[in-house]
Amino acid sequence: MIITLTGFMGCGKSSVGRRLSELLCCPFMDLDSVIEEYAGKSIPEIFTEDGEAAFRAMEQKVLEALTGGGKMPPSDLEDNGIDPTYSRGPLPQSGPLPLAGGGKMPLTYDRVNAAESEMVVLALGGGTLMTPECAELVQNNTRCIYLKASVETLVEHLDNEADKRPLLSGGDLRTRIENLMSRRSATYERTAHMIIDTDGKTVDEIASAISYAWSTKH
Ligand code: S3P
Repeated sequence: MIITLTGFMGCGKSSVGRRLSELLCCPFMDLDSVIEEYAGKSIPEIFTEDGEAAFRAMEQKVLEALTGGGKMPPSDLEDNGIDPTYSRGPLPQSGPLPLAGGGKMPLTYDRVNAAESEMVVLALGGGTLMTPECAELVQNNTRCIYLKASVETLVEHLDNEADKRPLLSGGDLRTRIENLMSRRSATYERTAHMIIDTDGKTVDEIASAISYAWSTKH
């Protein structure tokens, strides 16, 4: 079971995800970090050097690989040391993580643990669900939680962070957040299986609320 966290940049997906994985005693993965590892450069570098479309394509490939949603020909699977009968299901136990369409991803996170664990927490990027194929993968292959935050909270969290987020650089931060949010919020709400209001809550409170909801529902 993969628990995915979605929500706008700055809503706390990575910090809540890390804490949640401690509470649930399972591994944590951050999609952006895996993409950086795969690309060998930072997210801002990918945006500047390759463009947003290339970033979205990488994001989809990596997500497919992590959620077992990628469709690869059996020969590619075997080349990667993966049982060709493997499709959706747990992450592969050994060998490089295969990518849909070929290629191998170098790994530094503890994927062996992730493969052996019954549960993994995966923080998505704020725009991941805007690619319809990614939204479908997340909805069908994971349990998705939307960390909902007001523009006010996001402005506070992102005030000194815009440099790290290419889509927020330049212009007035609040206006940029409002514009992007108005295009995204319906997709977050439609795709998630659970919505948590995060305004005024600490990372610990949010993670505990999810963990509690999880244990009472599953
Ligand atoms: C993006 C969010 C970022 C990162 C990239 C694009 C977005 O992730 O994937 O800069 O489109 O909202 P965080 O939400 O973790 O900042």
